[in-house]
Amino acid sequence: MEKVCIIGAGSTKYGKLADSITDIALQASVDAIESAGIEPKQIQAGYISNVFGIADKQVHLGPVIMSNLGIPEVPSLSIESACGSGSISFREAFANVAAGFYDVVLATGVEKVTHTGTEWTTTYFSYCSDFFYEGGAGASFPGLFASMARAYLAEYKATEEDLAMVAVKNHDNGVLNPKAHLRKKITVDDVLKSAVVASPLKLYDCCPFSDGASSVILCSEKFAKAHTKNYIEVIGSGRGGSPAALQGRAHITEIPSTKIAAQAAYKMAGITPKDVDFAEVHDCFTIAELVDSEDLGFFEKGKAAQAVREGRTKLNGDIPINPSGGLKSKGHPIGATGIGQVAEVFDQLTGKAGERTVKDAQIGLTHNFGATGASCAVHIFKSV
Ligand SMILES: CC(C)(COP(=O)(O)OP(=O)(O)OC[C@H]1O[C@@H](n2cnc3c(N)ncnc32)[C@H](O)[C@@H]1OP(=O)(O)O)[C@@H](O)C(=O)NCCC(=O)NCCS
Repeated sequence: MEKVCIIGAGSTKYGKLADSITDIALQASVDAIESAGIEPKQIQAGYISNVFGIADKQVHLGPVIMSNLGIPEVPSLSIESACGSGSISFREAFANVAAGFYDVVLATGVEKVTHTGTEWTTTYFSYCSDFFYEGGAGASFPGLFASMARAYLAEYKATEEDLAMVAVKNHDNGVLNPKAHLRKKITVDDVLKSAVVASPLKLYDCCPFSDGASSVILCSEKFAKAHTKNYIEVIGSGRGGSPAALQGRAHITEIPSTKIAAQAAYKMAGITPKDVDFAEVHDCFTIAELVDSEDLGFFEKGKAAQAVREGRTKLNGDIPINPSGGLKSKGHPIGATGIGQVAEVFDQLTGKAGERTVKDAQIGLTHNFGATGASCAVHIFKSV
């Protein structure tokens, strides 16, 4: 297997964007290409993640992005895996470079939905659940994660304040991220007093609907070394699956796909959770960050809330989680999120994260899943 490196990353701002889906995908791709210091014609393949291109009247995005980059002859693959599309697409890009099929590839994720409004988006997102048992029965994602939250609070004696502290911490980080959707400092009281969306989850426990695009350039170690000093290495990659509907799982306070993907990624990297310096995890709702950080092995089962209370996951804690602001504050343009996490790790490990830099970090982890964790990919990166 070839060693795989990242030599460039780019993102649009996340939020409510006016430009078309193809324009924002192009902006992020050009940013990544410029950051890598390469020419578009050096790219040998494209991996494009997106879920609801149909909302902006453009599916089959791969060839459109390649054409707009002036490289229509370059093959591309369009990938959908719900909210985990970005990381699953990144994994395909990684595997193809690792296998030696390509030397340099582009992975771009994009989503554009906010113009359709909350009702349309909530309905369409619910098609990503196991629709027969969940969406079709009236359970939207806030409802499904609220079920997880109720079970977690009862089982582990955690409180709604603990959930709120996750939101406060991620908003604190997001304020330091110029590309974040919700750049607003909040307090525990603000969260507790915000409107109930699906009890016990309130407005500030939820990620927003966001538009946005992110892009990274992957290449072989040989290409990276010949080309730049500013690169990071992908040292671990794992994927996993879970029963699609929550009702099929033995426990709804853990996500099997995360555990499977994480174990595979740690094994490939030859490290344990203790070696990870920071992580970008899938906090679509505050409860998800608690569950994720236990499933990833950072804390024992049921102990994540205590870790948050002790400030261990803050930017200056012993295991900073979501220095970018996470899905909660940075935003969640679902096809782009997994690639945006990799872009954040690239910025962190190459000295481009500004005020939100995690001090002395050398190893970063990304974790991104689809739906309530039916599909998942975990990646581990190391500075060189
Ligand atoms: C929480 C949610 C229901 C709010 O939708 P909404 O009530 O229609 O919100 P609006 O877009 O009308 O925004 C109303 C206000 O709340 C703010 N807001 C919206 N979503 C927010 C969020 N998640 N967190 C904090 N503030 C939010 C908006 O900025 C706006 O503020 P303003 O009036 O100061 O401009 C919606 O964002 C949601 O469903 N989020 C979850 C998305 C999801 O399920 N993703 C998939 C995960 S698996």
